[in-house]
Amino acid sequence: MIQAIRGMKDITPDETPYWHVIEETIRRVLASYGYREMRTPLLEQTELFSRSIGEVTDIVEKEMYTFIDKNDRNSLTLRPEGTAGCVRACIENGLLHNQTQRIWYTGPMFRHERPQKGRYRQFHQVGVETFGFDGPDIDAELILMSASLWQALGLFDLTLEINSLGSSENRAAYRETLVEYFSAHHQQLDEDSQRRLHSNPLRILDSKNPDMKTLIDSAPKLFDYLDEESKEHFSGLTSILDQAQINYTVNPCLVRGLDYYSKTVFEWITDKLGAQSAVCAGGRFDSLVEHLGGKSTPAAGFAIGMERLFELVKEQVQPNHLPHAYLIMTSQGAINKGLLLAEQLRKGVPGLRLVNHCGGGSMKSQFKKADKSGASVALVIGDDELSSNTIAVKFLREDKDQQHLSQEELIQMLSNYV
Ligand code: HAM
Repeated sequence: MIQAIRGMKDITPDETPYWHVIEETIRRVLASYGYREMRTPLLEQTELFSRSIGEVTDIVEKEMYTFIDKNDRNSLTLRPEGTAGCVRACIENGLLHNQTQRIWYTGPMFRHERPQKGRYRQFHQVGVETFGFDGPDIDAELILMSASLWQALGLFDLTLEINSLGSSENRAAYRETLVEYFSAHHQQLDEDSQRRLHSNPLRILDSKNPDMKTLIDSAPKLFDYLDEESKEHFSGLTSILDQAQINYTVNPCLVRGLDYYSKTVFEWITDKLGAQSAVCAGGRFDSLVEHLGGKSTPAAGFAIGMERLFELVKEQVQPNHLPHAYLIMTSQGAINKGLLLAEQLRKGVPGLRLVNHCGGGSMKSQFKKADKSGASVALVIGDDELSSNTIAVKFLREDKDQQHLSQEELIQMLSNYV
Protein backbone atom coordinates (compact mmCIF):
# COMPACT_ATOMS: atom_id res chain seq x y z
CA MET A 1 0.00 0.00 0.00
CA ILE A 2 1.54 3.31 -1.07
CA GLN A 3 0.99 6.02 1.49
CA ALA A 4 1.15 9.81 1.39
CA ILE A 5 4.56 11.37 1.95
CA ARG A 6 5.42 12.04 5.60
CA GLY A 7 4.29 15.50 6.64
CA MET A 8 1.89 15.85 3.68
CA LYS A 9 -1.79 15.57 4.50
CA ASP A 10 -4.94 14.92 2.55
CA ILE A 11 -7.82 17.27 3.13
CA THR A 12 -10.90 15.06 2.88
CA PRO A 13 -14.38 16.03 1.61
CA ASP A 14 -15.53 16.05 5.25
CA GLU A 15 -12.99 18.78 6.00
CA THR A 16 -13.11 20.89 2.83
CA PRO A 17 -16.44 22.59 3.67
CA TYR A 18 -14.72 24.06 6.76
CA TRP A 19 -11.78 25.19 4.63
CA HIS A 20 -14.17 26.81 2.18
CA VAL A 21 -15.82 28.88 4.89
CA ILE A 22 -12.45 30.03 6.22
CA GLU A 23 -11.08 30.79 2.75
CA GLU A 24 -14.22 32.63 1.68
CA THR A 25 -14.21 34.72 4.84
CA ILE A 26 -10.57 35.66 4.25
CA ARG A 27 -11.27 36.48 0.58
CA ARG A 28 -14.15 38.71 1.55
CA VAL A 29 -12.09 40.63 4.12
CA LEU A 30 -9.10 41.03 1.78
CA ALA A 31 -11.35 42.29 -1.01
CA SER A 32 -12.88 44.79 1.39
CA TYR A 33 -9.40 46.35 1.78
CA GLY A 34 -8.80 46.40 -1.99
CA TYR A 35 -6.37 43.48 -2.22
CA ARG A 36 -6.28 41.52 -5.50
CA GLU A 37 -5.24 37.94 -6.09
CA MET A 38 -1.97 36.85 -7.75
CA ARG A 39 -1.30 33.26 -8.83
CA THR A 40 2.29 32.17 -9.34
CA PRO A 41 3.82 28.76 -10.15
CA LEU A 42 4.67 26.31 -7.38
CA LEU A 43 8.11 25.81 -8.95
CA GLU A 44 10.69 28.55 -9.24
CA GLN A 45 14.42 28.76 -9.93
CA THR A 46 16.23 27.73 -6.73
CA GLU A 47 18.24 30.94 -6.80
CA LEU A 48 15.08 33.01 -6.31
CA PHE A 49 14.69 31.55 -2.83
CA SER A 50 18.36 31.40 -1.83
CA ARG A 51 18.77 35.05 -2.81
CA SER A 52 15.54 36.24 -1.13
CA ILE A 53 15.28 34.16 2.02
CA GLY A 54 19.06 34.09 2.57
CA GLU A 55 21.75 31.42 2.10
CA VAL A 56 22.26 30.91 5.84
CA THR A 57 18.67 30.36 6.92
CA ASP A 58 17.10 27.07 8.01
CA ILE A 59 14.78 27.14 5.00
CA VAL A 60 17.53 27.46 2.39
CA GLU A 61 20.13 25.35 4.20
CA LYS A 62 17.95 22.40 5.13
CA GLU A 63 14.33 22.60 4.15
CA MET A 64 13.88 23.15 0.43
CA TYR A 65 12.61 20.52 -1.99
CA THR A 66 15.16 21.10 -4.74
CA PHE A 67 15.87 19.07 -7.86
CA ILE A 68 17.59 19.36 -11.21
CA ASP A 69 15.19 19.78 -14.14
CA LYS A 70 15.28 17.26 -16.98
CA ASN A 71 16.32 19.18 -20.09
CA ASP A 72 18.19 22.31 -19.18
CA ARG A 73 19.63 20.90 -15.92
CA ASN A 74 18.35 23.99 -14.08
CA SER A 75 18.03 23.79 -10.30
CA LEU A 76 14.34 24.17 -9.40
CA THR A 77 12.65 24.38 -5.99
CA LEU A 78 9.10 23.85 -4.78
CA ARG A 79 8.22 27.19 -3.19
CA PRO A 80 8.84 27.19 0.59
CA GLU A 81 6.96 30.51 0.91
CA GLY A 82 5.13 32.99 -1.29
CA THR A 83 6.87 36.36 -0.95
CA ALA A 84 9.83 35.64 -3.26
CA GLY A 85 7.60 34.36 -6.08
CA CYS A 86 5.22 37.29 -5.67
CA VAL A 87 8.06 39.80 -5.91
CA ARG A 88 9.50 38.02 -8.96
CA ALA A 89 6.08 38.01 -10.63
CA CYS A 90 5.48 41.70 -9.88
CA ILE A 91 8.84 42.68 -11.36
CA GLU A 92 8.41 40.41 -14.38
CA ASN A 93 4.87 41.61 -15.13
CA GLY A 94 5.73 45.28 -14.73
CA LEU A 95 3.40 45.77 -11.77
CA LEU A 96 5.72 47.96 -9.72
CA HIS A 97 6.64 50.79 -12.04
CA ASN A 98 4.96 54.07 -11.01
CA GLN A 99 2.19 52.29 -9.19
CA THR A 100 1.30 50.75 -5.87
CA GLN A 101 0.01 47.23 -5.35
CA ARG A 102 -1.99 45.36 -2.76
CA ILE A 103 -1.83 41.65 -3.56
CA TRP A 104 -2.86 38.38 -2.00
CA TYR A 105 -2.16 34.76 -2.86
CA THR A 106 -2.93 31.33 -1.50
CA GLY A 107 -1.73 27.79 -2.03
CA PRO A 108 0.57 25.05 -0.87
CA MET A 109 4.13 25.69 0.32
CA PHE A 110 6.81 23.04 0.87
CA ARG A 111 9.41 22.77 3.62
CA HIS A 112 11.31 19.66 4.63
CA GLU A 113 10.90 20.25 8.38
CA ARG A 114 10.42 17.68 11.12
CA PRO A 115 6.64 17.12 11.07
CA GLN A 116 4.71 17.74 14.29
CA LYS A 117 1.37 19.24 15.34
CA GLY A 118 0.90 22.39 13.26
CA ARG A 119 4.05 21.77 11.22
CA TYR A 120 3.91 19.97 7.89
CA ARG A 121 6.06 19.46 4.83
CA GLN A 122 3.26 20.58 2.57
CA PHE A 123 1.18 23.31 4.18
CA HIS A 124 -0.98 26.17 2.95
CA GLN A 125 -0.63 29.89 3.32
CA VAL A 126 -2.77 32.87 2.53
CA GLY A 127 -0.29 35.69 2.07
CA VAL A 128 -0.59 39.37 1.26
CA GLU A 129 2.09 41.70 -0.08
CA THR A 130 1.98 45.45 -0.61
CA PHE A 131 4.35 47.44 -2.82
CA GLY A 132 5.13 51.11 -3.12
CA PHE A 133 4.17 52.27 0.39
CA ASP A 134 7.03 53.30 2.66
CA GLY A 135 5.24 54.67 5.73
CA PRO A 136 4.05 52.94 8.90
CA ASP A 137 0.44 53.45 7.73
CA ILE A 138 0.64 50.36 5.52
CA ASP A 139 2.21 48.31 8.34
CA ALA A 140 -0.75 49.38 10.47
CA GLU A 141 -3.19 48.52 7.68
CA LEU A 142 -1.73 45.00 7.48
CA ILE A 143 -2.08 44.52 11.21
CA LEU A 144 -5.59 46.00 11.35
CA MET A 145 -6.61 43.85 8.40
CA SER A 146 -5.30 40.70 10.08
CA ALA A 147 -7.11 41.70 13.28
CA SER A 148 -10.35 42.06 11.34
CA LEU A 149 -9.74 38.65 9.79
CA TRP A 150 -9.57 37.10 13.27
CA GLN A 151 -12.74 38.93 14.21
CA ALA A 152 -14.57 37.72 11.09
CA LEU A 153 -13.51 34.16 11.95
CA GLY A 154 -14.52 34.47 15.61
CA LEU A 155 -10.94 34.12 16.82
CA PHE A 156 -10.38 36.30 19.87
CA ASP A 157 -7.35 34.96 21.70
CA LEU A 158 -4.41 35.58 19.38
CA THR A 159 -1.73 37.91 20.70
CA LEU A 160 0.33 40.28 18.61
CA GLU A 161 4.10 40.67 18.93
CA ILE A 162 5.94 43.37 17.04
CA ASN A 163 9.54 44.51 16.68
CA SER A 164 11.71 46.61 14.42
CA LEU A 165 14.77 45.18 12.68
CA GLY A 166 15.90 48.60 11.43
CA SER A 167 18.09 48.88 8.35
CA SER A 168 20.72 46.39 7.19
CA GLU A 169 23.41 48.82 8.47
CA ASN A 170 21.75 48.85 11.91
CA ARG A 171 21.71 45.07 11.95
CA ALA A 172 25.34 44.82 10.85
CA ALA A 173 26.44 47.01 13.77
CA TYR A 174 24.23 45.11 16.19
CA ARG A 175 25.44 41.78 14.86
CA GLU A 176 29.03 42.59 15.85
CA THR A 177 28.00 43.43 19.42
CA LEU A 178 25.84 40.35 19.61
CA VAL A 179 28.62 38.03 18.41
CA GLU A 180 30.92 39.58 21.02
CA TYR A 181 28.32 39.07 23.75
CA PHE A 182 27.51 35.46 22.87
CA SER A 183 31.19 34.60 22.29
CA ALA A 184 31.90 35.74 25.84
CA HIS A 185 29.27 33.21 27.00
CA HIS A 186 30.19 30.48 24.56
CA GLN A 187 29.84 27.69 27.13
CA GLN A 188 26.20 28.53 27.73
CA LEU A 189 25.24 28.29 24.06
CA ASP A 190 23.47 25.15 22.90
CA GLU A 191 24.68 23.31 19.82
CA ASP A 192 22.29 25.09 17.46
CA SER A 193 23.30 28.51 18.74
CA GLN A 194 27.02 27.70 18.54
CA ARG A 195 26.45 26.84 14.89
CA ARG A 196 24.58 30.10 14.35
CA LEU A 197 27.05 32.27 16.24
CA HIS A 198 28.96 33.34 13.17
CA SER A 199 26.54 32.45 10.36
CA ASN A 200 23.30 34.04 11.63
CA PRO A 201 23.71 35.26 15.24
CA LEU A 202 20.40 37.17 15.35
CA ARG A 203 18.59 33.86 15.06
CA ILE A 204 20.02 32.83 18.45
CA LEU A 205 17.54 35.33 19.93
CA ASP A 206 14.75 33.22 18.48
CA SER A 207 15.87 30.07 20.34
CA LYS A 208 13.05 28.22 22.11
CA ASN A 209 15.50 26.43 24.44
CA PRO A 210 14.54 27.41 28.03
CA ASP A 211 18.15 26.93 29.19
CA MET A 212 19.14 29.83 26.97
CA LYS A 213 16.44 32.20 28.17
CA THR A 214 18.42 34.14 30.80
CA LEU A 215 21.37 34.56 28.46
CA ILE A 216 19.10 35.82 25.67
CA ASP A 217 17.12 38.11 27.95
CA SER A 218 20.33 39.84 29.04
CA ALA A 219 21.69 40.20 25.49
CA PRO A 220 22.12 43.68 23.99
CA LYS A 221 18.94 44.89 22.27
CA LEU A 222 18.68 45.61 18.56
CA PHE A 223 16.38 48.51 19.36
CA ASP A 224 19.34 50.45 20.79
CA TYR A 225 21.05 50.20 17.40
CA LEU A 226 18.20 51.51 15.28
CA ASP A 227 18.68 54.73 13.32
CA GLU A 228 16.33 57.69 13.83
CA GLU A 229 14.26 56.91 10.73
CA SER A 230 13.57 53.32 11.85
CA LYS A 231 12.70 54.48 15.35
CA GLU A 232 10.32 57.09 14.01
CA HIS A 233 8.74 54.54 11.67
CA PHE A 234 8.21 52.18 14.59
CA SER A 235 6.68 54.82 16.84
CA GLY A 236 4.45 55.86 13.92
CA LEU A 237 3.17 52.30 13.82
CA THR A 238 2.67 51.92 17.57
CA SER A 239 0.80 55.19 17.76
CA ILE A 240 -1.71 54.02 15.11
CA LEU A 241 -2.07 50.67 16.89
CA ASP A 242 -2.65 52.48 20.19
CA GLN A 243 -5.30 54.72 18.61
CA ALA A 244 -6.99 51.67 17.10
CA GLN A 245 -6.83 49.91 20.48
CA ILE A 246 -4.93 46.94 19.11
CA ASN A 247 -3.07 45.18 21.94
CA TYR A 248 0.53 44.24 21.23
CA THR A 249 3.79 43.42 22.96
CA VAL A 250 7.12 44.65 21.70
CA ASN A 251 9.31 41.54 21.58
CA PRO A 252 12.95 42.57 21.08
CA CYS A 253 13.82 38.93 20.32
CA LEU A 254 11.42 38.69 17.38
CA VAL A 255 13.86 38.48 14.45
CA ARG A 256 12.06 36.12 11.98
CA GLY A 257 13.66 33.25 10.11
CA LEU A 258 13.91 34.89 6.69
CA ASP A 259 16.62 37.41 5.83
CA TYR A 260 14.63 39.81 3.68
CA TYR A 261 13.01 41.77 6.50
CA SER A 262 13.79 45.33 7.56
CA LYS A 263 12.10 47.69 10.03
CA THR A 264 8.70 46.35 11.17
CA VAL A 265 8.21 42.63 11.82
CA PHE A 266 5.24 41.03 13.57
CA GLU A 267 3.67 37.72 14.52
CA TRP A 268 0.23 36.70 15.73
CA ILE A 269 0.70 33.97 18.33
CA THR A 270 -1.52 31.33 19.93
CA ASP A 271 -0.90 29.26 23.04
CA LYS A 272 -3.19 26.49 21.77
CA LEU A 273 -0.92 24.72 19.29
CA GLY A 274 2.09 23.77 21.40
CA ALA A 275 5.47 24.68 19.97
CA GLN A 276 4.07 25.90 16.64
CA SER A 277 2.64 29.09 18.03
CA ALA A 278 2.80 31.51 15.09
CA VAL A 279 -0.44 31.62 13.11
CA CYS A 280 0.44 34.64 11.01
CA ALA A 281 3.74 36.40 10.47
CA GLY A 282 5.21 39.14 8.35
CA GLY A 283 6.83 42.51 8.13
CA ARG A 284 8.54 44.96 5.81
CA PHE A 285 10.98 43.88 3.11
CA ASP A 286 12.05 47.19 1.59
CA SER A 287 15.23 45.88 -0.11
CA LEU A 288 13.92 42.69 -1.67
CA VAL A 289 12.57 44.10 -4.93
CA GLU A 290 15.88 45.75 -5.73
CA HIS A 291 17.78 42.69 -4.54
CA LEU A 292 15.86 40.61 -7.09
CA GLY A 293 16.63 42.99 -9.94
CA GLY A 294 13.73 45.45 -9.78
CA LYS A 295 13.74 49.17 -9.08
CA SER A 296 13.97 49.96 -5.36
CA THR A 297 10.39 49.60 -4.03
CA PRO A 298 9.22 49.60 -0.42
CA ALA A 299 7.19 46.52 0.48
CA ALA A 300 5.43 44.82 3.39
CA GLY A 301 3.23 41.79 3.90
CA PHE A 302 2.35 38.77 5.95
CA ALA A 303 1.31 35.14 5.58
CA ILE A 304 -1.17 33.04 7.54
CA GLY A 305 -0.50 29.35 8.18
CA MET A 306 -3.85 27.89 7.12
CA GLU A 307 -3.51 24.51 8.87
CA ARG A 308 -2.87 26.32 12.15
CA LEU A 309 -5.77 28.70 11.57
CA PHE A 310 -8.01 25.75 10.65
CA GLU A 311 -7.10 23.99 13.89
CA LEU A 312 -8.08 27.07 15.91
CA VAL A 313 -11.38 27.92 14.24
CA LYS A 314 -12.76 24.60 13.01
CA GLU A 315 -15.02 24.18 16.05
CA GLN A 316 -16.83 27.45 15.53
CA VAL A 317 -17.08 27.30 11.74
CA GLN A 318 -20.50 26.20 10.53
CA PRO A 319 -20.34 25.19 6.90
CA ASN A 320 -23.55 25.13 4.95
CA HIS A 321 -22.81 22.19 2.71
CA LEU A 322 -25.41 19.47 3.40
CA PRO A 323 -27.84 18.65 0.59
CA HIS A 324 -31.24 20.30 0.74
CA ALA A 325 -32.91 17.31 -0.86
CA TYR A 326 -32.29 13.64 -1.65
CA LEU A 327 -34.12 12.01 -4.54
CA ILE A 328 -35.42 8.47 -4.01
CA MET A 329 -36.50 6.48 -7.09
CA THR A 330 -37.98 3.04 -6.70
CA SER A 331 -38.31 1.61 -10.25
CA GLN A 332 -36.72 1.90 -13.67
CA GLY A 333 -39.62 4.13 -14.77
CA ALA A 334 -39.06 6.32 -11.70
CA ILE A 335 -35.35 6.61 -12.48
CA ASN A 336 -36.08 7.63 -16.07
CA LYS A 337 -38.39 10.37 -14.91
CA GLY A 338 -36.54 11.30 -11.71
CA LEU A 339 -33.16 12.07 -13.21
CA LEU A 340 -34.73 14.46 -15.72
CA LEU A 341 -36.85 16.06 -13.01
CA ALA A 342 -33.72 16.58 -10.91
CA GLU A 343 -32.09 18.50 -13.78
CA GLN A 344 -35.12 20.78 -13.96
CA LEU A 345 -35.25 21.31 -10.21
CA ARG A 346 -31.59 22.38 -10.12
CA LYS A 347 -32.27 24.86 -12.93
CA GLY A 348 -35.53 26.04 -11.34
CA VAL A 349 -34.07 26.57 -7.86
CA PRO A 350 -30.67 28.32 -8.10
CA GLY A 351 -28.32 27.17 -5.33
CA LEU A 352 -30.27 23.96 -4.70
CA ARG A 353 -28.15 21.05 -3.48
CA LEU A 354 -29.99 17.94 -4.63
CA VAL A 355 -28.46 14.46 -4.48
CA ASN A 356 -29.80 11.74 -6.78
CA HIS A 357 -29.94 8.29 -5.28
CA CYS A 358 -27.90 6.03 -7.56
CA GLY A 359 -27.32 2.30 -7.30
CA GLY A 360 -30.87 1.05 -6.73
CA GLY A 361 -31.96 -0.74 -3.56
CA SER A 362 -35.17 -0.94 -1.55
CA MET A 363 -37.19 2.10 -0.50
CA LYS A 364 -36.03 1.48 3.07
CA SER A 365 -32.35 1.46 2.22
CA GLN A 366 -32.76 4.58 0.06
CA PHE A 367 -34.43 6.38 2.97
CA LYS A 368 -31.51 5.39 5.18
CA LYS A 369 -29.09 6.94 2.69
CA ALA A 370 -31.27 10.06 2.48
CA ASP A 371 -31.15 10.43 6.23
CA LYS A 372 -27.41 9.85 6.38
CA SER A 373 -26.78 12.47 3.68
CA GLY A 374 -28.03 15.15 6.05
CA ALA A 375 -30.68 16.32 3.55
CA SER A 376 -33.65 18.27 4.86
CA VAL A 377 -36.19 16.54 2.64
CA ALA A 378 -36.50 13.29 0.72
CA LEU A 379 -38.21 13.47 -2.67
CA VAL A 380 -39.78 10.16 -3.61
CA ILE A 381 -40.85 8.93 -7.03
CA GLY A 382 -42.48 5.49 -7.06
CA ASP A 383 -45.22 3.89 -9.11
CA ASP A 384 -48.00 5.93 -7.41
CA GLU A 385 -46.22 9.21 -8.12
CA LEU A 386 -45.57 8.18 -11.72
CA SER A 387 -49.24 7.55 -12.32
CA SER A 388 -50.42 10.69 -10.50
CA ASN A 389 -47.60 12.78 -12.01
CA THR A 390 -46.59 14.10 -8.58
CA ILE A 391 -43.57 13.88 -6.29
CA ALA A 392 -43.85 12.78 -2.66
CA VAL A 393 -42.00 14.98 -0.19
CA LYS A 394 -40.99 13.60 3.17
CA PHE A 395 -39.59 16.00 5.73
CA LEU A 396 -36.57 14.37 7.36
CA ARG A 397 -35.82 16.98 10.04
CA GLU A 398 -39.22 18.53 10.74
CA ASP A 399 -42.38 17.19 12.28
CA LYS A 400 -44.54 17.68 9.18
CA ASP A 401 -46.80 15.33 7.21
CA GLN A 402 -45.71 13.90 3.88
CA GLN A 403 -46.98 15.91 0.88
CA HIS A 404 -47.64 15.17 -2.76
CA LEU A 405 -46.67 18.08 -4.98
CA SER A 406 -46.64 18.94 -8.66
CA GLN A 407 -43.32 19.97 -10.20
CA GLU A 408 -44.24 23.68 -9.95
CA GLU A 409 -45.30 23.33 -6.31
CA LEU A 410 -42.09 21.43 -5.55
CA ILE A 411 -39.94 24.22 -7.05
CA GLN A 412 -41.82 26.71 -4.89
CA MET A 413 -41.33 24.59 -1.77
CA LEU A 414 -37.62 23.89 -2.36
CA SER A 415 -36.94 27.60 -2.87
CA ASN A 416 -37.75 28.07 0.82
CA TYR A 417 -34.84 25.79 1.76
CA VAL A 418 -32.13 27.51 -0.30
P1 HAM B 1 6.89 32.32 7.77
O1 HAM B 1 6.96 32.83 9.17
O2 HAM B 1 7.98 31.43 7.33
O3 HAM B 1 6.82 33.60 6.85
O4 HAM B 1 5.52 31.58 7.53
C1 HAM B 1 4.28 32.24 7.77
C2 HAM B 1 3.34 31.30 8.49
O5 HAM B 1 3.20 30.08 7.76
C3 HAM B 1 3.82 30.85 9.86
O6 HAM B 1 3.52 31.80 10.84
C4 HAM B 1 3.03 29.57 10.05
O7 HAM B 1 1.73 29.88 10.51
C5 HAM B 1 2.96 29.01 8.65
N1 HAM B 1 3.97 27.95 8.47
C6 HAM B 1 5.28 28.09 8.21
N2 HAM B 1 5.88 26.89 8.11
C7 HAM B 1 4.93 25.96 8.32
C8 HAM B 1 4.91 24.52 8.33
N3 HAM B 1 5.99 23.80 8.09
N4 HAM B 1 3.73 23.89 8.58
C9 HAM B 1 2.60 24.61 8.81
N5 HAM B 1 2.56 25.96 8.79
C10 HAM B 1 3.70 26.63 8.55
C11 HAM B 1 6.69 33.56 5.49
O8 HAM B 1 6.49 32.55 4.87
C12 HAM B 1 6.73 34.93 4.84
N6 HAM B 1 6.68 34.75 3.38
C13 HAM B 1 5.59 35.79 5.34
C14 HAM B 1 5.59 37.15 4.73
C15 HAM B 1 4.81 37.58 3.70
N7 HAM B 1 6.37 38.15 5.07
C16 HAM B 1 6.12 39.19 4.31
N8 HAM B 1 5.19 38.84 3.45
